[in-house]
Amino acid sequence: MTTVDASPPAGLAVRPCVAADLPRVVELLAFGALPGASGRPEESASTLAPYERALREATADARGAVLVAELRGTVVGVCQLIVFRHLQAGGGLCAEIESVHVHPDWRGRGVGSALVRAAIERARDLGCYRVQLTSNLRRSEAHRFYERLGFTPSHVGFKLPLVR
Ligand SMILES: CC(C)(COP(=O)(O)OP(=O)(O)OC[C@H]1O[C@@H](n2cnc3c(N)ncnc32)[C@H](O)[C@@H]1OP(=O)(O)O)[C@@H](O)C(=O)NCCC(=O)NCCS
Repeated sequence: MTTVDASPPAGLAVRPCVAADLPRVVELLAFGALPGASGRPEESASTLAPYERALREATADARGAVLVAELRGTVVGVCQLIVFRHLQAGGGLCAEIESVHVHPDWRGRGVGSALVRAAIERARDLGCYRVQLTSNLRRSEAHRFYERLGFTPSHVGFKLPLVR
């Protein structure tokens, strides 16, 4: 378990997600979902099997990671790091951050920053040449959050929903 030292709440730890965390993690994903967002299945903790399968798959390649932030035994945030081999950039490794969510009671206290910094560090340690992410245009607060962490809004993201 890695204890983060800077401004986040004292005792906050960022560690890999395990299956036992999933009920709470799904709750966090549901809290953070945008109202009226279409083109994606809704989060539901009533059946955990798909999330357990997803966690196994996401971490089957040792480079991929789902990280949780834990405070005094309670999971308060989550994020996923996906690492893939690009054809471009000399066949370099690239990383993508997804599903960054902090419980509403704990937002604005450095938990999200600790999670994303841990994901960036992991990508750096793995030798990735870049970390990238997309964020819904409606999430202007999240955009400020990512910019503060060093991300530049240099690209436009495109999505094509395949489910209704
Ligand atoms: C965006 C989010 C992950 C940031 O995590 P956090 O723990 O609140 O972030 P930190 O405390 O490390 O940093 C605070 C910054 O986050 C941003 N932020 C976004 N939503 C926020 C909220 N509801 N409350 C407080 N800060 C928020 C702000 O830019 C804030 O900076 P500010 O003080 O200048 O306003 C978190 O607020 C969240 O889960 N939001 C809902 C889901 C979401 O938008 N996820 C990102 C998907 S791309």
